[in-house]
Amino acid sequence: MYESADTDEMGIRLTAEEMGINLVYIPFRKVSVSISNDGYHFKTKGRHLEKNLEGVNAVLNRMQSKNARLYAASIMEGLGKYVVNPLTLEYLCFSKFRSLVELWRRGIRIPSTVFVPLDAHDITTSGRQLNNEEDIADLIQEGIGTEDIVLKPDAGTHGREVRLSRDRRTLIKNINSSTPSIINPIGFVAQEFIEKWFYDLRIIVTKERGKPPYCYPTALARGGFKDFRTNTFLGNMVFGVKLPMNIRNSSIECGKAMGRDSEAWVLGLDAMFNLGEDRFVDDEYVKSELEKLIPSFNGVKTVKREKIKLGKFSNWNKKLENAFHNYMSTTHYNHIKDIIEESIARNADNILFHEANSCPEFWEQTRIVGGINVAVPLIKCAKSVAGWSVFQRYKRY
Ligand SMILES: Nc1ncnc2c1ncn2[C@@H]1O[C@H](COP(=O)(O)OP(=O)(O)O)[C@@H](O)[C@H]1O
Ligand SMILES: [Mg+2]
Repeated sequence: MYESADTDEMGIRLTAEEMGINLVYIPFRKVSVSISNDGYHFKTKGRHLEKNLEGVNAVLNRMQSKNARLYAASIMEGLGKYVVNPLTLEYLCFSKFRSLVELWRRGIRIPSTVFVPLDAHDITTSGRQLNNEEDIADLIQEGIGTEDIVLKPDAGTHGREVRLSRDRRTLIKNINSSTPSIINPIGFVAQEFIEKWFYDLRIIVTKERGKPPYCYPTALARGGFKDFRTNTFLGNMVFGVKLPMNIRNSSIECGKAMGRDSEAWVLGLDAMFNLGEDRFVDDEYVKSELEKLIPSFNGVKTVKREKIKLGKFSNWNKKLENAFHNYMSTTHYNHIKDIIEESIARNADNILFHEANSCPEFWEQTRIVGGINVAVPLIKCAKSVAGWSVFQRYKRY
């Protein structure tokens, strides 16, 4: 189920074909869902889609925005389908603070975090403006206890509006410019700034019905010195790295915390290391190696910018894989990868989990560089619940 097909959705289709699984496309744009005491209708202007839905027991929810995913999951669960990911998990992942509370109560290590409602400015009933930024800054600083503070929208993604302040004046400025929005109506989280050197991790954990949760043995490291935010969306470079067993185990604990008692789910966890001064290689060396990687990484970007022609996804895919392999076969890539792997091994006990993503992007970076085609666990999860008769009980019709 998706609104418009991006490479992830095309990749899911391609992977399903290779696995011999028959997927049915359920549109969500330009459809109407109506419910009445006589039943339900799911249709577009010209076409009834109830028949398409009838044979479907499991839905892969690939709506782009968090709000649309919540909505789609509610409707599909209402129609008796198993949704990957289930609504409860989608609900927890919607909010950074809700996710962190789940991890924290299970003793998983997280960065110290303060939740701040969006009321830096209030208007009283008599029309007078109240400025709360100094009080908010006090509460944040008391809660965190350090000068370096990251402020981010509770329901944000892609590093948008994630801001770092290293002194009180900047913190006040950041609080003032953190305003509510339709996608983030509730608040911001303030977090202790983690000295993570130049990278953080995207780790994939999954659970199929009838099996214990599983963490993949590799992860995607995202890195660079340009910005403290290492999101791939911001153009950072990516490296495929091995994970030590204890990190895989704590990632599984995160998955259990978020998945609660759901039968099947797939999650992308964001994690970083509190490295402090443990920079065993000179920053200048890392920077110069990253610099030398730019030309081959640009080759990847060029392929990514190409418009994928209808029916030519496989061709484009081959080109992208070639470009990535070219980048990954350079000595500079391997130097940085080795540095990150050593840094992870030295600091495995200092890992902090800061976010869980319910619909992680994967087709380009996580699959080719991280070595994990997330379409596979997605499809396996759906398959594991598809024949599950329990859901029939919830069906109205
Ligand atoms: N507390 C922090 N300390 C250091 N860097 C952080 C911190 N929080 C976030 N970042 C950086 O900013 C990026 C975006 O933050 P994240 O919490 O993952 O939000 P988003 O949903 O926008 O991805 C992270 O990948 C990380 O590199
Ligand atoms: Mg993130």
